Formats: sequence, C-alpha cells, structure tokens
Amino acid sequence: QIAALVEQAVPLAEWPADLFLVHDRVERRDLVLSADYTPGAALRRHQTEGTAVILDQLSQAGLRGCGGAGFNTAQKWQICADTTAAEHYVVCNADEGEPGTFKDRYLLQAEADRLCEGMTLCAAVIGARQGFIYLRGEYRYLLEPLQRTLQQRREQGLLGPNILGQEGFDFDIHIHLGAGAYICGEESALIESLEGRRGIPRIRPPFPVTRGYRDMPTVVNNVETFINAAMITQHGAEWFCSVGTAKSPGTKLLSISGDCDQPGIYEFPFGTSINDILAACGAHHTQAVQIGGAAGRLIAPNEFDRVLAFEDHATGGSFMVFNQGRELLNAIDNFTRFFRHESCGFCTPCRVGTSMLTKQMKKVMVGHATIRDLDELSTLGNLMQQTSQCGLGHTAANPILDGLEKFPGIFQARLRSTSFEPAFDLDASLE
Ligand code: NAI
Ligand code: SF4
Repeated sequence: QIAALVEQAVPLAEWPADLFLVHDRVERRDLVLSADYTPGAALRRHQTEGTAVILDQLSQAGLRGCGGAGFNTAQKWQICADTTAAEHYVVCNADEGEPGTFKDRYLLQAEADRLCEGMTLCAAVIGARQGFIYLRGEYRYLLEPLQRTLQQRREQGLLGPNILGQEGFDFDIHIHLGAGAYICGEESALIESLEGRRGIPRIRPPFPVTRGYRDMPTVVNNVETFINAAMITQHGAEWFCSVGTAKSPGTKLLSISGDCDQPGIYEFPFGTSINDILAACGAHHTQAVQIGGAAGRLIAPNEFDRVLAFEDHATGGSFMVFNQGRELLNAIDNFTRFFRHESCGFCTPCRVGTSMLTKQMKKVMVGHATIRDLDELSTLGNLMQQTSQCGLGHTAANPILDGLEKFPGIFQARLRSTSFEPAFDLDASLE
C-alpha cells in the first residue's frame, strides 16, 4: 500500500532524467571498487575454511561499519553468532537519507551482487535464514533491478535453499521499501518499521545484535560494509590492509558534491587529507566542508590538513564543498530546518529543541537576533546533545554549534545593530 502511495505521489516518468544520474559517476576506484569479484567466492571460502577463519580475516582487516559509527564488524557478527535464539537475522541498512550522501545508491545499482554475497556470508557466519534490504523509499526505482539480482542468485544456487549445494544452508533476502522517513535510517527505528510499526528509535542497549528484529539477534550493517566483508573474504585481509593507516585499514567511499569541478563518487584510502580530497575533486577557494552529511561536522580551512581516519576525522559517506561565494549561514539554517522536519517527535529534547533551534535561527537570518540569542542557541544545542534519545537529536545542533565555534563572524554580522526593542511580539511574529 505504501509503495503504491509513493508511486502515486511521484510518478517515475515525471522525474527529471538527470535526477538519478547527476552524481552517479565514479571518479576514483582505489581498492574495493577496482578489485575482481567472483560471485560465490566468499561463500565457498566460508564453506571450506569455516566461520572462525572468516571472522579472523575480518578482524585482521580491521573492518568497521561504514554507516558512520565505525563499530568493529567482526565483533558485531561474533556477538550475534554467540547469542542463542530460535532465529537470527541479517539486515542491510539501505535507507541512505543523509543529505549529500549517494554512494549506496551507486552500490545498489552497480554492485548489488556483491552486497548479496556479503549478506549471505553474514548469514552463514551468524546462522540466519532470512535477510532484509531496507531500501530507501526514494530509491524505489532500484527495486526491480535488485529483485532481478536476487532471482539470478537463486538460479545460481547462491540464495534460497541449500546454498552451494550445502544441505541446511538456507537463506533468502526480502526487500522492504521505506516510505521517506529519515529517522528510519537509525537502526532500531528501521527495525520497528520492518516489523510494521511507526519508525521510533528504541532505547539501546539492548543492541540489535542481541535483540533486534522480532526481538531476535540481528546484524544491521550498511551496504558498503557488507560489500567490504565479501571482498575481504575473497581477496584476504592483507589485500585490504595494503592501503589505509595502521588504525584504519582500507578505503572509504565518499559522495562528493557542492562547489567542485568533478562531483561524484570517490574511493579514497583512509589517511587521505581533506586538502588532497579537495584537489582531487577540483574544488577552489573553499570556505568550508561539511563531512558526514547534515548530522556530520563543519570543517574550516585551518583543519584541511586533517585526514579521514577513525583516529582523526571519522566520516559517514558524504563530503559537501562550500566555496567562498556561498552564504554559509543559509546552509546551516537549511540543515536546522531539515532536522526539525525529520525529528520523530518521541522525546522532548529533540521534538521541542529542533523547533526552538529553527525559531532562533530564523531570528538570526532576519537580523533580529542579539548576542543573547547566540548564547541560547549554544546552550540549547549542548542540552540536546546530552539529553536526546537517539543520534538525530544528538547531532541536530552540530551545524549550529560548529558554525558558532568556527565561523562566529557569519552569525555576528547578522546581529541586530541597535538596542531598539521592537514594539511587537517578535517571537509570535516568527511562528
Ligand atoms: P552507535 O555507535 O550507537 O552504534 C553503531 C553500531 O554498533 C550499531 O549497529 C550498534 O548496534 C552497534 N553497537 C554499538 N555498541 C554496541 C555494543 N556495546 N554491543 C553491540 N553492538 C553495539 O551509532 P548509531 O547511533 O547506530 O549510528 C550513529 C552514526 O550513524 C553516526 O556516527 C553518524 O555518523 C551515522 N549516520 C549515518 C547516516 C547515514 O545515512 N549513513 C545518517 C545519520 C547518521
Ligand atoms: Fe525521535 Fe529526535 Fe528523540 Fe530521536 S532524538 S527519538 S528522532 S525525537
């Protein structure tokens, strides 16, 4: 029913052709995207060498979650495998909704078989018989190609009953379409949605790895993480560790957009500096970079020598470039309104906090704010970070807090210049 509603609201034929194509060009393939892939290779290795070897390989490769938080993948799979329950589940979080992020869209289009290989490998390790791809509602156009990939794998004996002819190794994948809520990218809200309820984050712990879908042990990983797991199993941990840093081996995919000559998808080794990324994508006169989407961090030029790595600047999947011609405050205001719109409304600090941030930002934008309003923005943002229930509330004030700390001038330039107090109720007029 929901799928029908989405289709009704935005008929595919009317969407501009370049909407999906504009940033789908891959500009760099530094390791994973350029490596050979053989369907079934990772599964055969599991069949011959066993679960312990696979987990050891992932552990030696230092693979960490690519959704942004970087939890150790081998550890996650091991905990799930060790948790006794009637069923175990594998969930791929393909609800890529972070502004400026489009790398998973490419992977789902071009590398879907590798994703299924990684999910099936995970199923073999944890003992799951059912998997789900939770597909972002706006990516509905990918549903049929993905279903064709699943069918092809069933025909090849790589999905379904008795995979690779191994009796008892049964696993299949179902695609579940989201309906446009950003919060369903949060893993526990995603699971709620998968179970047919409204997407509201659960209190964690317990984490999904012990109590997830239908309260059973569930591995939830990002698209890129499953693909990396399949490729590490096929090529070995040493291959993955041939690039990157000692603490962050391998590579990271970035969706690069904004003020640069070559926006697109880039695979960089961990340890690449922000300066080098800007040079690679043809960015000039850069004022700031937003890394990790609206929920990420705003980076000023004096930090451009920092590197992408878990030990320095950890990242999700996006890199937005703003040149000196941009009004940075507009971007900060835009991100703030985005969070107010996407807050699920369950907990007070975020529900009320995102509204108050939006209201205060509007005051700044129209030139009515005082220095006290800036202090209030800061106090409120810090309070939300500490008291909200989930990642959305923890990060919603990041753009404002980073802006106040690193670009105070853009706020101060908009402050009310006289001590004149308006004779009308300003707050009410901003509602
Ligand atoms: P988190 O650090 O709480 O958890 C990360 C993963 O590790 C989860 O799968 C969680 O279940 C697991 N985990 C954490 N501690 C565990 C434990 N003690 N035992 C077992 N499993 C454990 O991070 P969270 O809140 O899941 O995600 C926040 C991150 O998501 C942020 O860093 C942000 O960068 C990123 N993000 C990504 C977006 C995207 O579109 N990819 C959108 C918004 C945020
Ligand atoms: Fe919902 Fe925001 Fe609270 Fe998360 S922090 S549970 S999105 S209201």
